[in-house]
Amino acid sequence: MILKVEKIRKLFPIYEENPNIVYLDTAASSLKPSQMIDALNHYYQDLGVNIHRGVYKIAHEATDLYETAREKLARFINASTDEVIFTKGTTNSLNMVANHYLDILKPTDEILTSELEHHSSFLPWLNVSQKTQAKLNYIELDKYGKITIEAFKKALTPNTKVVVITAVSNVMGNKVPLKEIIRLAHEVGAHVVVDAAQAAPHFKLDVKELNCEYLAFSGHKMLGPTGIGILFMKSSLSQTFTPIEFGGEMINRVSKDNMTFKNSPYKFEAGAPNIAGAIGLGAAADLLTEIGLDKISEHVDSLYEYTIDKLKDVDGIRILNHDSDSGIITFNIDDIHPHDAASIFDKNNICVRAGHHCAQLILKWLGEESTLRASFYIYNDFSDCDKFVESVIEARDFFRKF
Ligand SMILES: Cc1ncc(COP(=O)(O)O)c(C=O)c1O
Repeated sequence: MILKVEKIRKLFPIYEENPNIVYLDTAASSLKPSQMIDALNHYYQDLGVNIHRGVYKIAHEATDLYETAREKLARFINASTDEVIFTKGTTNSLNMVANHYLDILKPTDEILTSELEHHSSFLPWLNVSQKTQAKLNYIELDKYGKITIEAFKKALTPNTKVVVITAVSNVMGNKVPLKEIIRLAHEVGAHVVVDAAQAAPHFKLDVKELNCEYLAFSGHKMLGPTGIGILFMKSSLSQTFTPIEFGGEMINRVSKDNMTFKNSPYKFEAGAPNIAGAIGLGAAADLLTEIGLDKISEHVDSLYEYTIDKLKDVDGIRILNHDSDSGIITFNIDDIHPHDAASIFDKNNICVRAGHHCAQLILKWLGEESTLRASFYIYNDFSDCDKFVESVIEARDFFRKF
């Protein structure tokens, strides 16, 4: 184990209230640290005013904190601040991008995506495809459910205009070879939209090195608040990208028959934003940087390997994903519905996910209606892994009796 979990847990107030909780559902949402909660509280308790338009001290301080959060997030992904747009989260970011292409794509164009996509990465483009008649193509997955460069090359055509790809699948947990995919997509002139919701809490993202056009992630999966996230948009695209929402703070001039927009990111942040959320997300990014994404990744790997090693000797368990890079174990217990099994985990104060994980394409590929999923993070230790494995066995034995 790499991180000092006892020390880390002290940063998360939930462990004071519920010291025995075994939280294995970070892929859905992470636990929330005091550092982030304090940042939210500071805004609500000491400031609580709107930003950008105030001409008094507390409005200046709130504006300062909001823009400082943007700088932190820009550093977090190696972007410039005009490329970091605060949104409600990954879903909101990805829908913004897809909506833009409703006016651009033609029936002869192609959108290339994968069965690994979460619904919030896939459905906006299914809608675009239905409305524009642009064709949706899929990269064939290998036998482990992974995307290979060979398969990507086969699916890419001169008509591919947009590649929509997850950085890490929320069911399979594997890293996609993004850098090479983006390089190849650019060779045919396609834009690349990256869903980094599962990647941002685990891996250093460098948008300059990746060179993608768009990248999205959510605060709540990476120690931040709910209802806030990021859309990275390459600066060269922001001039021609149409805002989806119109309203306060996004315009320069308005007349009866015209409007001119501010530059990015303000052009895309109409109305009073989620100020506290942005400040909280900034604090979360600070904490992740302080702990170190490399260490987080190593820690998560060690928990994953320890658990897989124990599970592989348990009969009646089907592990559905292979060599996860992000501490995700997707599995089923023979002849037991995942929701029934989940009740045993819940009884033992173990939080795991059961369902289709908003990723029905990959569930269908796996041949499952629904699955169980455990996911590890910085506050988990080997004792969590042991309790989890014991509960898997207990669930199997309990339901075998019926
Ligand atoms: C890979 C992936 N993409 C997108 C999302 C959607 O994120 P949000 O609900 O925060 O918008 C999730 C959430 O589970 C996810 O795992």
